[in-house]
Amino acid sequence: MNHRPLTISLGEIPDPDRIPKYMTAQVIRPDRFGEPKYAFVEEEIPVPRLKPDEVLIAVRAAGINFNNVWAAAGYPLDVINQRIKEGELENYHIGGSDGAGIIVQIGNKVEGFKIGEEIIIQPGSFDSEDAWIKKGGDPTFSSKFKAWGYETNFGAFGQFCKVKSTQCLPKPSNLSWEESACFMLTGATAFRMLTHWNPNHIRKNDLVLIWGGSGGLGAMAIQLTRKFEAVPIVVVNSLEKGNFCISLGAEGYILRNEYSHWGSINRSQSSDLSEEQMRSFQRSIRSIGFKDPNIIIEHPGEDTIPTSLFVCDREGMVVICGGTTGYLGSFELKNFIKHQKRLQGSHFANPEECKKVLKLVADGELSPALTKVFSFLEIPKIHQQMKENIHPYGNIAIRFV
Ligand SMILES: NC(=O)c1ccc[n+]([C@@H]2O[C@H](COP(=O)([O-])OP(=O)(O)OC[C@H]3O[C@@H](n4cnc5c(N)ncnc54)[C@H](OP(=O)(O)O)[C@@H]3O)[C@@H](O)[C@H]2O)c1
Repeated sequence: MNHRPLTISLGEIPDPDRIPKYMTAQVIRPDRFGEPKYAFVEEEIPVPRLKPDEVLIAVRAAGINFNNVWAAAGYPLDVINQRIKEGELENYHIGGSDGAGIIVQIGNKVEGFKIGEEIIIQPGSFDSEDAWIKKGGDPTFSSKFKAWGYETNFGAFGQFCKVKSTQCLPKPSNLSWEESACFMLTGATAFRMLTHWNPNHIRKNDLVLIWGGSGGLGAMAIQLTRKFEAVPIVVVNSLEKGNFCISLGAEGYILRNEYSHWGSINRSQSSDLSEEQMRSFQRSIRSIGFKDPNIIIEHPGEDTIPTSLFVCDREGMVVICGGTTGYLGSFELKNFIKHQKRLQGSHFANPEECKKVLKLVADGELSPALTKVFSFLEIPKIHQQMKENIHPYGNIAIRFV
């Protein structure tokens, strides 16, 4: 007779009838909120129970992205407290918004998947019974849409994670587990930012300015911009990062450390100096791209949004998905109104957009931009590096062996 074991070792794939009671996970708790290197601690946690529309996955590899730098900080959202307010019991968070693995258990209402299937997880979690989604609405606009492994618990940083079946995409056999796990969050977010917001979707020969070109989002945005026959220019803080971006297809780069006007617009500071620096930044863009950017991929937020809106072309769009430097945006309205620019929020992607990105990667038209693989034990360290902006370029994965 098969007994359900208490635990299994990292990287082991159990038989479906021998799923252990406990799993190892990198866990965040409220009394550890702050620096990622202290916030994450390896703990034994009960393997989660499934709801009828969910699937349990034995994680083979996880991706690293900014979501769990925020979760570790407990800012701008205390994700644990938020879920407790919504009725969940766990006073801890297992993050990880990118992953790939093997299905080991299936909820009783799930159709179209089987035990043993190898899948990539897309992190857009939603309730298929939501009235808006049932009517065919874009799930990302639903109030039930959540970033899996950030707003939801039991993400990819445990031996087992649980997902809605709508998050499961078949893993292409030509990708390694680490490649499969690293690109979906950044790739699909960049894809939607560039393609979703009509009439400001990317067109041939458009100029696209990409902040943080060597980061996860930036690496995918550079490649996608080239894929659409447009021209990417990036902003970075070192020559080495600039050269990495060129290797991915960037036309040129601007070093942001050559400027000092960053931050919110403050009436008491010298606006002449700030405007002169913005004009100089604009000249740098024009000297590489010979025009003003039609689309600007924004995510630093507070420090850069005044400049983004200043340099954006007439009728152009600044599309923003994050606030790495802060969430209070300020900008000068006169030029924004007169030149009829657009500021557009963008949040991850819908399942169709995820499938398109997966196809591009599977067909070899888009690289996952995986530059480094770390061990499970290194999850706290790599999030700390990401917070301090000293992490490896492109996308990063965790191997579960
Ligand atoms: N809403 C969504 O669905 C969604 C999805 C993905 C990402 N995001 C957000 O987007 C942001 C970036 O994510 P990521 O995965 O690309 O992170 P990442 O890999 O850490 O890259 C971020 C880049 O930002 C740049 N940066 C850091 N500080 C900066 C500053 N003060 N001014 C200008 N640039 C700065 C850095 O480049 P340099 O230092 O070289 O300039 C870095 O390479 C995060 O805030 C994340 O939460 C949101």
